[in-house]
Amino acid sequence: MMKKIVLLLSAATITVSGVLFTVSAQDQTPEESAAAAVDQRKSLFKTIRYNIGPIAGMAQGAPFDAEVAERNARRIASMATMIPEMLAVDTSAFDNIETTALDSIWDNQGDIATKSQALIDNANAFADAAATGDMGATLGAFRALGGSCGNCHDTYRVDTD
Ligand code: HEC
Repeated sequence: MMKKIVLLLSAATITVSGVLFTVSAQDQTPEESAAAAVDQRKSLFKTIRYNIGPIAGMAQGAPFDAEVAERNARRIASMATMIPEMLAVDTSAFDNIETTALDSIWDNQGDIATKSQALIDNANAFADAAATGDMGATLGAFRALGGSCGNCHDTYRVDTD
């Protein structure tokens, strides 16, 4: 009896949240969905930065932890597969949405894919080096990993330095 009630309750919850989701997606104005797209891509980049933080710390002399280095680099490689998708929505029509993305992104999707792939490859190469436990080789692979962030930012992002 108890089990049945719990099952019913959770089915009801799923239905309700499903309905809410549908309604809010339909009610979004074009500006709201552009703002949501910008929010989404910034979240991805912030989470990528969260993961590169400890790696950059090691490159600057913090104690070397091969396990964290490998884990975080694999996460970055995986998240980087989402970058082309996140940078596919042209959000330039709305001036009051805060973004540092340059409008050249929308006409250069092939290059965005290439630069995202370079990040994936360099993050995996870094992770492979970390997996050997060799600190010198791992930190030696950091320049290419970090360089693939700058390589895209230099071309497609407002200079924030
Ligand atoms: C293929 C292009 C590309 C690559 C590769 C890339 N970025 Fe970015 N990044 C962008 C763009 C475009 C923005 C601007 C997003 C916006 O403001 O709408 C951005 C924004 C950011 C931001 C600011 C997010 C915010 O809150 O405004 C951070 C942090 C960031 N990137 C970190 C990184 C790191 C770290 C790497 C490498 C591990 C990286 N990015 C690789 C294109 C890229």
